[in-house]
Amino acid sequence: MKIGIIYTSVSGNTKELAHLLHELFSRQTIRAHLFHIADFPIHTLSTFDAIAIGTYTWGDGDIPAEMEPLFQEFEKIPQMKMITGVFGTGDSFYPHFCGAVDKFRDLLKINTDLAVTLKIELLLQKQDISKCKRFVELFANRIQTSCHS
Ligand SMILES: Cc1cc2nc3c(=O)[nH]c(=O)nc-3n(C[C@H](O)[C@H](O)[C@H](O)COP(=O)(O)O)c2cc1C
Repeated sequence: MKIGIIYTSVSGNTKELAHLLHELFSRQTIRAHLFHIADFPIHTLSTFDAIAIGTYTWGDGDIPAEMEPLFQEFEKIPQMKMITGVFGTGDSFYPHFCGAVDKFRDLLKINTDLAVTLKIELLLQKQDISKCKRFVELFANRIQTSCHS
């Protein structure tokens, strides 16, 4: 199984979340490759069996510009046999909290095997850890199910 975590972050909130999830995956003995979007070779997307996407939200509930090519790549290849998850940080001060997570979720629900989503308010807090563990658990369960099917 080839598993990737691809994230973007400007002020560090989503980066911290992505690193925690990476650590939690490794505690479940799941080896995932962690990429900042700037370092991810998009043409290799379809070689992954499972991908977790991490994004903050910009503008008015928008996907950050640097994530658009990844979004478009998922649009280009419909009905991928790929397990996916989406996580992100946002600020509930804005009308569309974590809108970028919702946009990825809506696309991935249609053309991939979407296992789980996660939204965190700004910087990770202690009380968020259980939600992060749950994200990893649900993602890992879906991987295990697909290995045995
Ligand atoms: C100009 C601007 C627009 C934003 N728009 C939204 C938004 O529509 N919805 C939301 O939930 N958060 C919004 N945010 C908040 C960021 O998504 C949030 O601070 C996030 O945690 C930043 O992630 P990062 O630290 O990984 O860069 C906005 C922030 C800025 C500066």
